[in-house]
Amino acid sequence: MENEAKKLTDLKKVSLNGKSSRFPGFYKHDLSFRLDLLEQWYPLTTKEKWMLKRETLTPELADVMVENAIGVFSLPLGVAVNLKLNDRDYIVPMAVEESSVIAALSNSARLIRDHGKITAEATEPIMFSQVQLVDVKNPQKAKKRILAKKEDLLRVANEQDPVLVELGGGAKDIEVRIIDSLSGPMVIVHIIVDCRDAMGANVVNTMAETLAPILAELAEGDAICKIVSNLSDRRMVHVRMEVAVEALARAGFSGEEAANRIVKAYHFAEADPYRAATHNKGIMNGIDPILIATGNDWRACEAGAHAYAARSGKYKPLSRFYRDDSGKLIGEMDIPLALGIVGGVTSIHPGVKILLKLMKVNSSKQLAELAAAAGLLQNFTAVWTLATEGIQKGHMTLHARNVAVFAGAIGEMAIKVANQMAHEGRVRYDRAKQILKSLLIREKEEQEHQKK
Ligand code: MEV
Repeated sequence: MENEAKKLTDLKKVSLNGKSSRFPGFYKHDLSFRLDLLEQWYPLTTKEKWMLKRETLTPELADVMVENAIGVFSLPLGVAVNLKLNDRDYIVPMAVEESSVIAALSNSARLIRDHGKITAEATEPIMFSQVQLVDVKNPQKAKKRILAKKEDLLRVANEQDPVLVELGGGAKDIEVRIIDSLSGPMVIVHIIVDCRDAMGANVVNTMAETLAPILAELAEGDAICKIVSNLSDRRMVHVRMEVAVEALARAGFSGEEAANRIVKAYHFAEADPYRAATHNKGIMNGIDPILIATGNDWRACEAGAHAYAARSGKYKPLSRFYRDDSGKLIGEMDIPLALGIVGGVTSIHPGVKILLKLMKVNSSKQLAELAAAAGLLQNFTAVWTLATEGIQKGHMTLHARNVAVFAGAIGEMAIKVANQMAHEGRVRYDRAKQILKSLLIREKEEQEHQKK
């Protein structure tokens, strides 16, 4: 006990009073100790630590959030450490079932921290909803009539959310498109809204429903759909990483070779939608766990990201990798990300509230920059691994642990069983059972021997 306390005090000396997210060897500690260590980054209370470990969402709250609730479903929650983005440190909570994801972000964040840099910039938080007008006799005249009333329309829209307007947000513009469809021409009205720190679907939907009858009258048509567009291409993040190629040497490849192989792996994704889908999945591996941990709508972001990836008419990778004039490896990405830190689930989920404090993000833009950076780093690590040692080696070690646990091993025993299976290159349930059985017999024999 005394030893543990001393270890903690020593480790805390490494910190820079909550300013550094560099936690050497964080992964080596046990779960409770990691939570204690996080105190040097953010002063979590005992109750908050207990909640993160055991229960952040009560059944009573779940019952309010969804219909027919029967319980609360959990996922592993971890934090990626070491990230320095835009010259600021971050701890990144991730709720995810897939092994390797959190380690990949922590490791790449450390690599970039030591051998490169990563920056991100989000646009203003602009969302829009669409009002679909059909059976419009003269679409061009309808467009003119709607645009002529723009100021009145914006005023009515803004009456729906005076608080947002007070904060500097609100409806800013009205755009009208005429599209061809299976049922003839349609007039589509976009209500462009600055959502500040909210994700914004609720507010833009309310504005669309309020304006729809007025728009239908102006267009002399009928309004059908009134809903947010999840292709939120006005709410973008640009993220850029650079790394010295010497740091990329791995699995017998020099840094130079590894960097060139990464670029060629990207060219594969650029040329082939089958690979682009997997490449982009690797990006979302870094983003979705943050969205889940912060109560954001990851389905909306997934839909937006993939629609954006296909904007040219061909499905493309969202990120790109190239060597710059000085030889560095550069990774860049533009991605739509509609995230909120207020409203919706973010305001009621107790776990989300704690995790947002732990992240120290103050705006939806900052959260989007962080999520995009995590996406690019995750993608970079996956492509680097694929281009050098291959993905299965690391995956197998972690997969072996899951198989060991499934076979009944716990704690240290699970690690021993997993290590042996990984060493043998045979990760199978039946083999895990055999190894576990023999290790337990050996352990029992040793205990009896010690008793004598
Ligand atoms: C696995 O979850 C993600 C990867 O398939 C991504 C990629 O192939 O780039 C490794």
